This record gives sequence, structure tokens and C-alpha cells, in this order.
Amino acid sequence: MTSGGSRLPIWQMLGLVLFVVMLASERTDANYLTTDFYDQSCPQALSIVQRKVDEFIEADRGLAGALLRLHFHDCFVRGCDGSVLVNSTEDSLAEKDALLNKGSLRGFEEIDAIKMELECACPGVVSCADILALVARDATAKVGGYGWPVFLGRIDGAGSVGEEVNGSLPERTDNYTTLVANFARRGLDAKDMVILSGSHTIGVAHCGAFFERLYNFEGTNKTDPSMDASLATFLKKRCPIDKPFGLMALGGTNGTFDTDYYQNLLTKRGLLESDVTLTSDPYGLEIVTKAVEDPSWFLTEFGISMIKMGFIEGTHPYGWRKHCAVIEPREK
Ligand code: HEM
Ligand SMILES: *[C@@H]1O[C@H](CO)[C@@H](O)[C@H](O)[C@H]1NC(C)=O
Ligand SMILES: *[C@@H]1O[C@H](CO)[C@@H](O)[C@H](O)[C@H]1NC(C)=O
Ligand SMILES: *[C@@H]1O[C@H](CO)[C@@H](O)[C@H](O)[C@H]1NC(C)=O
Ligand SMILES: *[C@@H]1O[C@H](CO)[C@@H](O)[C@H](O)[C@H]1NC(C)=O
Ligand SMILES: *[C@@H]1O[C@H](CO)[C@@H](O)[C@H](O)[C@H]1NC(C)=O
Repeated sequence: MTSGGSRLPIWQMLGLVLFVVMLASERTDANYLTTDFYDQSCPQALSIVQRKVDEFIEADRGLAGALLRLHFHDCFVRGCDGSVLVNSTEDSLAEKDALLNKGSLRGFEEIDAIKMELECACPGVVSCADILALVARDATAKVGGYGWPVFLGRIDGAGSVGEEVNGSLPERTDNYTTLVANFARRGLDAKDMVILSGSHTIGVAHCGAFFERLYNFEGTNKTDPSMDASLATFLKKRCPIDKPFGLMALGGTNGTFDTDYYQNLLTKRGLLESDVTLTSDPYGLEIVTKAVEDPSWFLTEFGISMIKMGFIEGTHPYGWRKHCAVIEPREK
């Protein structure tokens, strides 16, 4: 068992194992992934990643959200292929420098440091895409979430195209229907969407990400009436209109992976429009309510949906990379 997975109570582990067996037998995309992929080629890979993630988060707890988010932004553009880590070149804008990511995604130096250690231990073996999948699990478990078995063997992609980020990633102003449709394009259902949004129980948003709700709701110069009034007052103080780059915690218990995010949604204290919209739909509301009533159900479901997300297959498989930020020309 992986050390992250061992934080899961046994009865939930059984449910997970059943799900995983079902997934492995039914899925067609990326069904070559296995949990033991590096057992022979790099037996220490998983413990190296976990040790580094522990170190980074012990030094800065706020990194957990950043590290979890990278896997999501990777998987939703060209599949889980490490493309989010690639640097722009003189003549091409990479995903990380596209508008939706630039100045917002963090954790690249930490991924590079992990990759470097893996290259020392087992040169040429572990893919950047797999590092992101492992890091997402270990970061979640480190700040209070449950671990889950991580399926491995992803192939790093051939490129990273900034223009593809628009239209691929969900946007903070998307409504419930649009969010469900976006996730459906990757084989993820409405439940996965609501459960994975639970990531916003950790991490931060820039003030500008919810300025419309504070200062110009639907172009009216008013505050979104669906926002709790005391929260609006608080946010206006913390996020004055001339300071869009200030940071605000997304969840309620700053930095712990729990269900306070969903609790906030039920009490009109959600931050982003895409958060608030989850309770606008009866099914979304049902999932949110269930998560609040049964946190351990949410923590288990989160792992299941993360496994599903991690199966989104890369569309441009290429091969292994020495530096996650650079796609080396192929020899021969
Ligand atoms: C449902 C659609 C989603 C939308 C529209 C969305 C949007 C956003 C936005 C606007 C931010 C703030 C960025 C900033 O201001 O710099 C954010 C932060 C974050 N998102 Fe999402 N997100 C979504 C789903 C997800 C999913 C599926 C995950 C992970 C599985 C995730 C993980 C995070 C995390 C952890 C942060 C905090 C990042 C940090 O602290 O650096 N989000 N998201
Ligand atoms: C949340 O935690 C981070 C890191 O521990 C800290 O820098 C930040 O000021 C905290 N934010 C709030 C709103 O408490
Ligand atoms: C994406 O869309 C935004 C606005 O919709 C635009 O400003 C930006 O240039 C587009 N492309 C990239 C690569 O960010
Ligand atoms: C959701 O957004 C889409 C695209 O902007 C729009 O066409 C649709 O009418 C919206 N749905 C609801 C229920 O507001
Ligand atoms: C919003 O406020 C600004 C500045 O106070 C004003 O110029 C603008 O006309 C207002 N817009 C609306 C729709 O009330
Ligand atoms: C990628 O870009 C970052 C930021 O500009 C830089 O620090 C890093 O060295 C680059 N990585 C490589 C391998 O060139």
C-alpha cells in the first residue's frame, strides 16, 4: 500500500479497491496505467516524491493547493501529459504563460526539484506527468485529506500550446451547465465536477477573481446579493478595488483539506462564481449537502474522482523529459 493511501480507513479502502477494479476493466483511455508501474524501474520513486512534498509543505503550508492544482491544469489541456510544466520559447507561448495560468499557477520550482532528485535516483525513468499525479495525492494527504492509489505510467507530451488553454480549462465565471459540459468532455461527470471543486477548500485566489461579485455584479455597480453581507464587507476591506492582486484564502479553515468549502457554499460564503453555482442545481446541492453531512464520504470520493481525472489520456504522447520545462528534440 502507498503511504498516502494508508491514511484511508479500511472500509473506504475496500470501496476504493472495488472502484479501481471496475475502472480498470471498463475504461478505454489510458488503461495501461498501473499502480506498480515503477516498482521495478524505480522502487524509491514514490517515497522520494512523498518526502519532498512533505518538506515543501512543512516549510510553506500554502503550497499544498498550488501543488494539487497543477495536476488538474495539466490534465484538462492535452490530457495528463506534463504539458503544463513546459516553458515558453522565443517563438511559442506555452500553457503556463497563457492568460488563465500566468501569475496564478505556482509550484514549478518544487516540481523541478522533485524531478531532479528522481533523475539522480533513477535517470530517465519517471515521467513529469506522473510526478504531478503523485504530488497532487501527497499534497492533499499532507494537509488533512485522504490519500488514494495513484495510477502511473503516463507518457509526457510533445508540446505545450498556450492558445489551447482558452476553451480547455473551466473559467471562474462558468455556470453549472457549462462546468458540467466541460468536465463531461473528459469523461468526468457532474459528481466528479462538484467533488473536485472541493479542492477549493485549500489554496488562495487573487482578489480580482471575485471583483465582479464585490463591485460590479452583472454590470450594475452593486455587490452580488447572493453573497453573505458580512463576508462582502470583510472582502471589500481585504480586497479594495485598486488591489486585484491581493490574495484571499478560498476555503474557510485556511490550509486544511476538509469540507469547510462546502459549508461556506451552504451559507452564501462562496468566493468564485463557479463555486457559488454548484448549489444552483438540485443535484449539485445534493452533493454539497452530502459532503457537509459526511466529510469522510467526501474525502473518499475526492480520491476516486482524482483517480478518474488522472486517467485523462495525453493527446500528443512523446516520451520522457530530462527537465520538465523543456521538450528535448528526439535523438536520431
Ligand atoms: C470547476 C471548475 C474550476 C474553476 C472555474 C476553478 C477556478 C479557479 C480559480 C479562478 C482559482 C483562483 C486562481 C487565482 O486567482 O490565481 C482557483 C484556485 C485553485 N483551484 Fe480551481 N477551479 C476549478 C476546479 C478546480 C479543480 C478540479 C481543482 C483540483 C482538482 C482545483 C484546484 C484549485 C486549487 C487548489 C486552487 C488554489 C491554488 C493556489 O493556492 O495557488 N480547482 N481555481
Ligand atoms: C493562510 O495561511 C498562509 C500560510 O500559512 C498565510 O500566509 C496567510 O496569511 C493565511 N491567510 C489567512 C487569510 O489567514
Ligand atoms: C485567451 O482569451 C483571453 C480573453 O478571452 C485573451 O485575452 C487571451 O489573449 C487568449 N489567449 C491566451 C493565450 O491567453
Ligand atoms: C450558462 O452559460 C452558457 C454559456 O455562457 C449560457 O448559454 C447558458 O444560457 C447559461 N445557463 C444558465 C442556466 O444560465
Ligand atoms: C458605476 O460607477 C461608476 C463610477 O462610480 C460610474 O461611472 C458608472 O456610470 C456606474 N455604472 C452604472 C451601471 O451604474
Ligand atoms: C523555465 O523557466 C523558468 C522561469 O523562467 C526558469 O527559472 C527555468 O530555469 C526554466 N527551465 C529550464 C529547464 O529552462
